[in-house]
Amino acid sequence: MSLAWTLDVDQDRIAWLRFDLADEKVNKFTSAVMAELDTTLDRIAADTAIQAVVVHSGKPGSFIVGADVAELAAIGDAADARNKAQSGQSVFNKLANLRVPTVAVIHGACMGGGTELALACRYRLATDDPKTSIGLPEVKLGILPGWGGTQRLPGVVGLAQALTLIMSGSAQPSRKAYRLGLVDALVAHAFLAEQTRRFLARVGSVKGRQTVLGRRWRVRPVLVRFLEKTPPGRAIIYRQAAKQAQHRSKGHYPAPIEALEVIRQSFKGPLASGLAAEAEAFARLALSSVSRNLVWVFQASQRLKKTPPSPSDHRPQPVRNAAVIGAGVMGGGIAWALSHAGLRVWLADIAWPAAAKGMATAAGMFQALVKRKKITAGQMDVAMCRITPTTDLGKLGGQLDLVIEAVVEDMAVKKQVLRQLESHVGPDTVICTNTSSLSIGEMASALERPSRFVGLHFFNPVNRMPLVEVIPGEETSPQTVACAVAVARQLGKTPVVVRDSAGFLVNRILLPYINESIRMFEEGVAPQRIDQLVEAFGMPMGPLALADEVGWDVGLKVAQVLEDAFGQRMRVPDLLRTAVTSGTLLGKKNGSGFYVYRRGKRKPNPQAAELTGKSEQRGDDAGVLDQQIVDRAILTMVNEAARCLEEAIVPNAEVLDMAMLLGTGFAPFRGGLLRWSDQLGAAHIVKRLHGLALICGDRFQPAPMLERLAASNGRFYQDPAG
Ligand code: NAI
Repeated sequence: MSLAWTLDVDQDRIAWLRFDLADEKVNKFTSAVMAELDTTLDRIAADTAIQAVVVHSGKPGSFIVGADVAELAAIGDAADARNKAQSGQSVFNKLANLRVPTVAVIHGACMGGGTELALACRYRLATDDPKTSIGLPEVKLGILPGWGGTQRLPGVVGLAQALTLIMSGSAQPSRKAYRLGLVDALVAHAFLAEQTRRFLARVGSVKGRQTVLGRRWRVRPVLVRFLEKTPPGRAIIYRQAAKQAQHRSKGHYPAPIEALEVIRQSFKGPLASGLAAEAEAFARLALSSVSRNLVWVFQASQRLKKTPPSPSDHRPQPVRNAAVIGAGVMGGGIAWALSHAGLRVWLADIAWPAAAKGMATAAGMFQALVKRKKITAGQMDVAMCRITPTTDLGKLGGQLDLVIEAVVEDMAVKKQVLRQLESHVGPDTVICTNTSSLSIGEMASALERPSRFVGLHFFNPVNRMPLVEVIPGEETSPQTVACAVAVARQLGKTPVVVRDSAGFLVNRILLPYINESIRMFEEGVAPQRIDQLVEAFGMPMGPLALADEVGWDVGLKVAQVLEDAFGQRMRVPDLLRTAVTSGTLLGKKNGSGFYVYRRGKRKPNPQAAELTGKSEQRGDDAGVLDQQIVDRAILTMVNEAARCLEEAIVPNAEVLDMAMLLGTGFAPFRGGLLRWSDQLGAAHIVKRLHGLALICGDRFQPAPMLERLAASNGRFYQDPAG
C-alpha cells in the first residue's frame, strides 16, 4: 500500500506519477514520502518501456506545499540537517537524471520542495488558474532551498531573476511564472491531461524541444542577459541583490545573504560542488536561532488558524449581507474587506460627504490590488458595486447577517448608534463594534439583546493588518463569538479571542511602550535615535514614527482610556495631552508630529522639541544609554504582557505572542515577545526592570508574574498560567 505515490503507465507508455499523501489535505515531503519517491524513481529508471514521466498531484487545487515543517523543527544537529539536504538532493538528482522527458504539471500551490521537484523535471506546465502559484519561500523560515533549488533555478530563469525569487521568497502567480520562463506552458485546468499529452508530443520532436528551451532564454531582457554573461556584469547583479537584501532584512535575517553566497560560489560550476555548498549552508541556517524562531512563528500561526471558533460546537453560516456604520478610516477599510471577500455591504454615515470618503477609502484599497495585478479593473468595479453607501439606517432592513459599528471612539455616541441600530435590524443580526479600547460590557448595556453583541477589533490599515481581536462581553453568546471568529476568517484575517478589558490586548501592551518613548523624548532624547534603536531591535517602525502614523489625537483617546483603567503606570505623557489639546501636533495627518513631513520626507520637528522645553539637548545622548532606551521601550511591553497573561486576557503565552506579531509586527526573528523573554530569562528581565524602576520610577516595578517566574526559574511557556 503506497503512502503517497502511485504510478500508472498508459497505452502511450507515459508514466503518470501521482502524489497524493494519505490522510492529509495537502501534499508535503516527509522523510517517508521522499523514501517512497526514491524507490518509485528506481522503478521508473528500470522500466525501459516508459517514454515520458508526468508528475502531478492528487489533491484538488493544490500541488505540493513543500517539506514538512515539523521535520525541519525537529532537526537536532548539523549532521542531521546536512543529511536531510543531501538525501533530498539525491532523490531529485535521480529525477533529473531520468533519460526520458519529465514534466511537472502544476495546479494550485507549488512551494519550496515542490518547486525544487518541478525544477528537477525537464519541463514545467502550470494551469492558468488564480490558485496556481510557484515559489521558493524557504528564506521566510530562515533557511534556503536545500534540495537543489539554488542550483537549478538560475539555469531556468537566469541569475538575476533566480536571486530575486530565492532571496525574497515570494511566490509567483502562474502567468508571471510563465513570463519569467519558470514554466514552459500555461494550460487550462479542464483539459490538463490532454494538453500535457499534446505538450509531450511537441517536445518529443527535436524542433519542438528547441522552441520550448529557446523560449526560456529569450524571455530574459537583453541587458540582463548581457550582464549575466560576464564576470563584471555578474558582480553588478550580486552587489545589487546584496544591497536589496540588506535593506529588506536590516541585518536581522541571514538566509537571503547565505543563498546569495551559495549561488555566487557555484554559478556555472559543477552541480555536485554547488549542491554540497547548498547543503552546508542549509545546515548552518537550519540550526540558527533565527530559523528556529521563524519556524515556531509559522507553526504557531497554523495552530492559531485551526483553533475552534468557540467552546460550543456551533458552526455559523457564512455571512453574506453586512453593514458598516461609520465610514471613516476604519469603516472604509472594513467595507473593503467585506466586499473583497464577496459580501454585500451597506456603508452608513451621518452625511454624504463622509460616506463618500469611506467609499474612496475602499476604492483606494481595491486600486492598490489592481496596481499589483492581484485583481483586474473589472473585478474592482464589481467589488465596488457590492458596497452601497447610505445616510439612512432605516434602509438596512432585516436581512442583514452582521453589522459592524465603526463610529468615533466615544462611549455616548456609540451607545446611541447601537440603540438606533437595534431598532432597524432583524432579531438575529450579529452586532459588532470596532472600538479599540472602550468596554464591550458597557456598550452592550445599550442593547435589548446583548447576547448578539461582540467586539470585532480590526487594525489599521485594514488591508494590510492580519489580526482581528474578538472581544466577547459578559453576556455575549457562544454563537455570536463563533460568528465573529468565522467572519474574520472569511475575510482572510486571523482572529484572536480576547477578554473584555481596557485596550484589550495589543493596544494595552503597545500604548505604554509608546508612552515610554514619548517620555524619553520629553527628557531630551532625539526622536530618530529612539526610533532607530527600536527598529534595530527589530520592530518594523519606531514608536514615535508609529505615534505620528496613528495620529496623536487618536492615540490620546486610547491612552486616556488606559490611564483611567490602570492609573499611574499608564499616565498619559504631558506632551501628548498639551499638543492635542492645543491642536498643534497631530502626527502625519497634519504633517507635524515628532517629525515634520514634507514631500515624502521627514525630519525631527523643532516644534515638538520646543513643547518639551528641552530642545537644546537634542543631538547629544541626553544622558541616556542606547541599551536603556531599548529596555525602557521593550521591557515595558514585556511587563504589561505578563500582567495580561496573569489576568487571562488571552489563554496563553503563544496566543499573546502571535497577537503581538500579527498586530504590531513584533520582530518575527525573535520569535514573539514572551518567547524572546524566556530566552532572556525572567530573572534577568526582573533585574533590569528593578534597575529602571530606580532611575525612572515605579511604573517599571516588575509584574507579580515576572517576579514569580524569576524566583522559580520559570518560563512564560511553561507556567500553568501561560
Ligand atoms: P474616523 O473619525 O475616521 O471615522 C468615524 C466616522 O464615524 C466618521 O466618518 C463620522 O462621520 C462617523 N460617525 C460619527 N457619528 C456617527 C453616527 N452617529 N452614525 C454614523 N456615522 C457616524 O474614525 P476611525 O479612525 O475610523 O475610528 C472608528 C472606530 O474604529 C473607533 O472606535 C476607533 O477607536 C476604532 N479604531 C480606529 C483605529 C485607527 O487606527 N484609526 C484602529 C482600530 C480601531
